[in-house]
Amino acid sequence: MTESSKKNILVLNGPNLNMLGTREPEIYGSETLEDIEINMTARAEKLGYILDFRQTNSESELVGWIQQARNKTSAILLNAGAFTHTSVAILDALQAVDMPVIELHLSNIFKREKFRHHSYVSPAANGVICGFGGNSYILALEAAHNILSND
Ligand code: DQA
Repeated sequence: MTESSKKNILVLNGPNLNMLGTREPEIYGSETLEDIEINMTARAEKLGYILDFRQTNSESELVGWIQQARNKTSAILLNAGAFTHTSVAILDALQAVDMPVIELHLSNIFKREKFRHHSYVSPAANGVICGFGGNSYILALEAAHNILSND
């Protein structure tokens, strides 16, 4: 596969995910976000995708990145962190872009505090993957690949 025939996938990480590795490792594991990016990039290359992997602590930056993804990327994989449970703005942005969206979380949000059980972004997602630590990212990539291959 040539570089130009590869499809782009945007991977967006929200607040505090830059702290992975040291942040509550009993919940989120010991992998850093960089470790996750390295593993995911290797898997993406095998499947024929170029990953655009980003993290921000800012809700407005996430909304901007989602808006800019229109016509430039084939799918969005999103771990919105705490914004999952608060952000109608991210939901609206996702609903405005016409492409597969996979919501993902490292932890099983349904096993945790009640306020984490509700996700504002799920209505815009094709599906949700949570509870598999860093592997949630690989599973989300495979889910997107499955959807894109059947297009
Ligand atoms: C998280 C779960 C959220 O509830 C939390 O606010 C995060 C991380 C996860 O990946 O498990 O920051 O999205």
